Amino acid sequence: MEKINAVVTGVGGYVPDYILTNDELSRMVDTNDEWIMTRIGVKERHILNEEGLGTSYMARKAAKQLMQRTGSNPDDIDLVIVATSTPDYQFPSIASILCDKLGLKRAFAYDMSAACCGFLFMMETAANYIRSGRYKKIIIVGADKMSSIVNYSDRATCPIFGDGAAAFMLEPTTEDVGIMDSMLRTDGKGLPFLHLKAGGSVCPASYFTVDNHMHYLYQEGRTVFKYAVSNMSDISVALAEKNGLTKDTIDWVVPHQANLRIIDAVAHRLEVPHEKVLINIERYGNTSAGTLPLCIWDFEEKLKKGDNIIFTAFGAGFTWGALYMKWGYDGKKQ
Ligand code: UT7
Repeated sequence: MEKINAVVTGVGGYVPDYILTNDELSRMVDTNDEWIMTRIGVKERHILNEEGLGTSYMARKAAKQLMQRTGSNPDDIDLVIVATSTPDYQFPSIASILCDKLGLKRAFAYDMSAACCGFLFMMETAANYIRSGRYKKIIIVGADKMSSIVNYSDRATCPIFGDGAAAFMLEPTTEDVGIMDSMLRTDGKGLPFLHLKAGGSVCPASYFTVDNHMHYLYQEGRTVFKYAVSNMSDISVALAEKNGLTKDTIDWVVPHQANLRIIDAVAHRLEVPHEKVLINIERYGNTSAGTLPLCIWDFEEKLKKGDNIIFTAFGAGFTWGALYMKWGYDGKKQ
């Protein structure tokens, strides 16, 4: 039997209209454009600031564009998975809301939680459904409304994050393209350094948790930075070596967009020149599960069939990893 690969056949994306600039942030907390640009590399981020709209709104916009660009019939979708840390509700899942909004009748759907590695882990998960031969069209969406958990009076975290969503269609192929390999890791040792203190089952919402700002993202930035650089670099180099990829045969590196200095360090370790690294942190900030697919959404027109792409990410848990993909088509699908 011929080997079935899982290939990306289209991309959709969405970022909200409202742009929060560094200048506006400087009026909210004690910071400035120069510090944010040199220490993080973010100029502006998109924020979903309309009352009553949650992450599923952005996920739905991204998935709708994906369906249109891939000419997909709702009845043909087998599965929807959404990676997010900021679901509309504890339950039901965003993915279930999408089934209704997209008019899917035959799909099953669920959300995945792996923080900023959500999309990376989900690509491998979805690829295995395709490789099984039983599923033909899978929508995967990375979506986060980080503004819903960011404390806009904490200058150490509020400049970093933004809101956004993007989606891939995965389908089977017997050609030598698609998701080729991955190395994914979780150690559980990152909990003290990056978490949301309240609102879960350990510490449900109460007046105390609200009064003490415990529903906001908590991060010890320096520690997370250190682990992000070493873990993303080590695993990207290991995956490249395992697959015989070199700085000359890697066409693109798509890193999680958390900090430009982390991205530069990973590219340096891979010895890949700057022009091969897809970067949009300056315009979107860290959209958590959204960063990897938003990068592809932004730079799709540069990609060619057969291009060797290394995705890499790091996030809460800690979670980290790298994935090797051979791109499936030329240029941008309208
Ligand atoms: O996506 C999930 C994974 N997350 C990450 O990968 C994030 C990893 N961490 C980082 O990106 C960085 O650690 C941060 C961007 C969070 C912080 O940058 P840093 O260079 O590590 O700064 P720092 O926390 O060491 O702070 C340096 C100084 C401090 O002042 P003192 O104590 O040296 O006087 C901070 O108070 O910078 C100060 N500072 C700021 N100054 C101006 C912190 N935030 C700001 C700010 N504006 N916004």
